[in-house]
Amino acid sequence: MAEINLLRSYPRAKRNLSARQRAQASNRDLAKKFGFEYFDGSREQGYGGYRYDGRWRPIARDIAAHFALQAGDRVLDIGCAKGFLMRDLIEAVPGSEVWGLEISQYAIEHCHADAQHRIVRGTAQYLPFASDSFAAVLCINVVHNLERDACVAALREIQRVSGGRAYVQVDAYRDDSERDNFLDWVLTAQTYGKPDLWLDLFREAGYTGDYYWTIIESDEWIVREARA
Ligand SMILES: C[S@@+](CC[C@H](N)C(=O)[O-])C[C@H]1O[C@@H](n2cnc3c(N)ncnc32)[C@H](O)[C@@H]1O
Repeated sequence: MAEINLLRSYPRAKRNLSARQRAQASNRDLAKKFGFEYFDGSREQGYGGYRYDGRWRPIARDIAAHFALQAGDRVLDIGCAKGFLMRDLIEAVPGSEVWGLEISQYAIEHCHADAQHRIVRGTAQYLPFASDSFAAVLCINVVHNLERDACVAALREIQRVSGGRAYVQVDAYRDDSERDNFLDWVLTAQTYGKPDLWLDLFREAGYTGDYYWTIIESDEWIVREARA
């Protein structure tokens, strides 16, 4: 198990936290449905329009190198949204078999054509795949959307299907200022806290894969633009 940032190549841009400050309860409710509003509605409700632009390509290459992926390997992206990382993994590892699992019918219906035939609708707590059946399992900014017990169940499932060859990234904050930014921006998280909380949950679930944090670093400055 290692703390490693596999999203280090993700483009960084300014984001106006105050535009979404203490988001309206109605926007949070809409976002949690993971439908049109979350992906392609206004910025107050989610991504503000999520389209393929190649931003995952360098990350796919870093993931491929980190897990030494090669032709014939099976990879799973849990909470794959519109399948953009899947598409770029297929490109980064020719001959690989890249699967996605996603709860949102809207995202599946609007996913990238290259990912379409391998996205399964489902939820992270119940993975419809055999134990130890993937060379790498990714779950980026997803499990914090579950309540605590479901979160642990999802981490157990990730461990089961990956055998520990996995990468989980979750929302976290290290101090009060980051916590304030988090509360101002994040719409859908149900389980969150400092990294120590996550390390405890990883232990409880028996999760031995790699991990990193999504941290909203400072008001109105440099954060990940496409992070919903
Ligand atoms: C913040 S987005 C992250 C998408 C993508 N992994 C990324 O990093 O860009 C969260 C995604 O997880 C999906 N999701 C939410 N709850 C889920 C669950 N219980 N099981 C599977 N996917 C879920 C949402 O529909 C959405 O596509």
